[in-house]
Amino acid sequence: MEIPKLVAVLVALVVVLLSSEVATASVSYDHRAIIVNGQRRILISGSIHYPRSTPEMWPGLIQKAKDGGLDVIQTYVFWNGHEPSPGQYYFGGRYDLVRFIKLVKEAGLYLHLRIGPYVCAEWNFGGFPVWLKYVPGISFRTDNGPFKAEMHKFTEKIVSMMKAEGLYESQGGPIILSQIENEYGPLEYYDGQAGRSYAYWAAKMAVGLNTGVPWVMCKEDDAPDPVINTCNGFYCDYFSPNKPYKPKMWTEAWTGWFTAFGGAIPHRPAEDMAFAVARFIMKGGSFINYYMYHGGTNFGRTAGGPFITTSYDYDAPIDEYGLISEPKWGHLRDLHKAIKLSEPALVSGDPAYVALGRSQQATVYRSSKGACAAFLSNIDAGSYATVTFNGVHYNLPPWSVSILPDCKTAVYNTARVGAQSTQKKMEWIGGISLQSYTEQPDSLNDKSFAKDGLVEQISQTWDRSDYLWYTTYVNIGEDEQFLKTGQWPVITVNSAGHSLHVFINGELCGTGYGALDNPKFTYYGNVKMWAGSNKISILSVSVGMPNVGQHFESWNVGVLGPVTLSGLNEGKRDLSQQKWFYQIGLQGESLSLHTVSGSSSVEWGEASHKQPLTWYKGFFNAPAGNEPLAIDMGSMGKGQAWVNGESIGRYWPAYTASGSCGACDYRGNYDEKKCQAYCGGPSQRWYHVPRSWLKPTGNFLVVFEEWGGDPTGIGMVRRTVGSVCAQVNEFQPMTSLRNQDVPKVHLSCEPGQKIANIKFASFGTPQGACGSFSEGSCHAHKSYDALEKRCIGQESCAVVVAHEVFGGDPCPGTMKQLAVEAICE
Ligand code: GAL
Repeated sequence: MEIPKLVAVLVALVVVLLSSEVATASVSYDHRAIIVNGQRRILISGSIHYPRSTPEMWPGLIQKAKDGGLDVIQTYVFWNGHEPSPGQYYFGGRYDLVRFIKLVKEAGLYLHLRIGPYVCAEWNFGGFPVWLKYVPGISFRTDNGPFKAEMHKFTEKIVSMMKAEGLYESQGGPIILSQIENEYGPLEYYDGQAGRSYAYWAAKMAVGLNTGVPWVMCKEDDAPDPVINTCNGFYCDYFSPNKPYKPKMWTEAWTGWFTAFGGAIPHRPAEDMAFAVARFIMKGGSFINYYMYHGGTNFGRTAGGPFITTSYDYDAPIDEYGLISEPKWGHLRDLHKAIKLSEPALVSGDPAYVALGRSQQATVYRSSKGACAAFLSNIDAGSYATVTFNGVHYNLPPWSVSILPDCKTAVYNTARVGAQSTQKKMEWIGGISLQSYTEQPDSLNDKSFAKDGLVEQISQTWDRSDYLWYTTYVNIGEDEQFLKTGQWPVITVNSAGHSLHVFINGELCGTGYGALDNPKFTYYGNVKMWAGSNKISILSVSVGMPNVGQHFESWNVGVLGPVTLSGLNEGKRDLSQQKWFYQIGLQGESLSLHTVSGSSSVEWGEASHKQPLTWYKGFFNAPAGNEPLAIDMGSMGKGQAWVNGESIGRYWPAYTASGSCGACDYRGNYDEKKCQAYCGGPSQRWYHVPRSWLKPTGNFLVVFEEWGGDPTGIGMVRRTVGSVCAQVNEFQPMTSLRNQDVPKVHLSCEPGQKIANIKFASFGTPQGACGSFSEGSCHAHKSYDALEKRCIGQESCAVVVAHEVFGGDPCPGTMKQLAVEAICE
C-alpha cells in the first residue's frame, strides 16, 4: 500500500475507533463508584416523581434541584398511570415521562430510572394497574408465569421507549442507572425458593434488555450479578453491597416521611439529614439519592396506603408546592459543595480510618496526585468534642461531621447551619360562593344489581370509583319492643376497609373508618327504625389501594360482614346472607358533576350545611401573581374536590392527627415518629391547585362531601414565604464554600420577591429562633441600619458578619453572631 493511502486508512481507523468509543461511552462501576465516561463519580441524586407535579412545574423543580447541588434526578415509573387498561398506553400530561427526562437532560443532569414496575411509593396499588389483579392465575411479585409475562412486557415497553428516544447515556442521553423491582429482599425471605427464582429472573430479564447502564435492586441483599444491591433508610453508613466489586449506594435517603390521614406531619431536621449523608460518604458511599427531594401531590385517586394524604410533601428540600424549604435545601446544598470539593480525593480510593476518641473518628482519603480530604465525626449525641487531627484542634458539635476537603480546613459541619431558614404561611385570599346539590343515598341506576350475601368491593369497582353502595331491607314487626321503649337496635358492620357511612331510611346515622396501620374496622351504632320495611344503605368508601405488604393483591376492601342487628325481640339478626343490592359509584359520578357540562344535569340550590352526600359548585378567579395556590378545606368533612374538571384529590380534614408532637432534637437516631407536628389538627387542611390548571377568571370548583361540612369555610389561599431568617456566627466555617474569606449572612427571597422590611436584626448575642428572635444582653445598635442599607429592595443580599459593619464591637471578648429576620414581599 502507498504511504498516503496507509495514512488515510489509519486515520479512518482512528476515527472509527474514536467514534465507536463515543457511541459505547457508557456507564459501569467498580467497588468505589459508578463510572461515567471513564470517571468514577460521587453522585448526589434526588427523587422527583413526575406525576406528583405538573409539566409546567417540572423545569422549575429541576432547576432548584440543580441549584441545590444535585447531579442526578431519580424517578419511579408509574405503571398504572401509563397502562390504565391492558395494552392501552398513556404518556401525556403529568405522565409524559419522555418530556420529563428530556428536561432533566436540558438542565445538564443525569437520571436514575426506577422502572420497578412495582414501586411502593405510597402510590395507588404500589404502581400496579388494578386490572393486573384480575389476570387469570396471577400472583404478584413471585415466580408466577402470568405476573412475569406482564412485568416483562411493561419493562420492555419502557426500555424500548427510552432507547427509541435516545435517552440512555450510551446513546448520549441522561439515564445513567436503572432499577428493577423495589425492596424485594424482605419478601423474598418469606417466599423461599419461589422468591429466589423470581429475583433471579427479574435481574436476568432486566440485564437482558441491554440498556448499557447498570441496574440496581434496592433492599435486596441477594441481587444477582451484575445488578447492584443498594440501601434504603434513614441511615446507610453501616451498609455494604453483597460483592466487594460493587459500589456502596444509597437509593433512598429519607428526607422526612409521608403523612397519612389520622397521622401527624413528620419532619426531619436538616442537621440530622446532613449528618446521615456525610457519614455515608465518609464510610465509602459514592451515590446518594434523597427520597424525596420534591415530594409533591397525590392528585386524583393516586394516593396509596390506604389512608395516604393527598399531600406528599415529605418534608423534602423542595416543598409540596415547589418552594424551597429552608434551612434544609440550603444546608444540603452547602454539604454538596463540601463533598464536591472533596471529590478528587474521594474517588481515588478507599479511606483510612483514624480513631480520635471514643465516639470520634476521622476518615482520610488521599489520591496519588496529592489530593487529601478528611471527614471528622462525633457520633456522641450528647456532647461536644474537641479532637486533634494532623496536629490541629477541631471542635465537633454532638452528632455531627466536619468536612475538610484539603485535610486542613473544616469548610462545613453538619450541625452548624449557615443556610437561611424560611417561614412559610398560607394566606387567605377569599371564600368561594357555592351552590349545592344533594344526592339520595344509593339512587340505584340501571347498572345496579342484586345478590344474596356480601361482596368484596374492588372485585366490583375495579377501583374505578372509591364508592360502592350496599343496600338491603329489614322488616320490623309491630310487636318489636324497641318501638315502645325507644331503645333502638344496634347495627354492627364489619368492614375490611377503608371507611363507610350508614344510612337508615335515607338518614345518615354514622360513619366508621380504619387507619393506616389497620384498615379493617367494626362500626356499631344505634338505628332508628319503624314498623314495616326499613332500608339500610351502606356507602363503603375506599381510600387508596395498598402499596406495600406481602401479596397485597389479595387484600380485601368493603363490607365483608357479618352485618347484624341486635336489640330485637329475637335478639340478634344476621343480615349478611340476605339479599343485597349493589350500586357502583355515586350518582354524581355517573353524571360527571365535576365538569361544567355534567353539572347542568341537576338542579343546584343554595348551599346547604352539614348535609351528607352533597355536591358543591362555584366559580372563582385566579389570584394575580405566581405564588402557589391551594384550597382551604378545613371546615369540611371528607370527600373529593375538582378544579376545572381536574381532581385535586381526596380530602379528609375531619380525620385529626394523632401522634406525639413534642420538641424535636436533631441529635440521636431519627425515625419517622421522632419529630411530628400538627397533632390534634387535621392531617391535611390545604389542597394544592396547580397554577397551570387555572385561567384568570371563571374557574370551576366542585366538591363532593360525604359526611357534611361547612362550605362557607372553603376558600382560596396562597402559599407565601412570610420571612427569611439567618443566623451566622463570627467564626462560622464554610466561608470557602461560598468563595468568601469572611463569614457572611445571606438572605434571599423566592424569585420575583424582594426584601421589604427587616423585622429583626441583632449582632451580638441574640436569642430564639426564626419568627421569635429577641435581643440578648449584647447588641450592636447599628444592627438594623446595616441590614436595611444592604438588603431592602433586593431579591437577595449578603452582609459581612464582623463588628466593623455594625459600628464597632458591642462586647469585646464575647463570641457574637448575627441573627436576622427579613420580610419578603
Ligand atoms: C420505601 C419504598 C418507597 C417508599 C418509602 C416510604 O420502602 O421503597 O417506595 O414507599 O419506603 O416513603
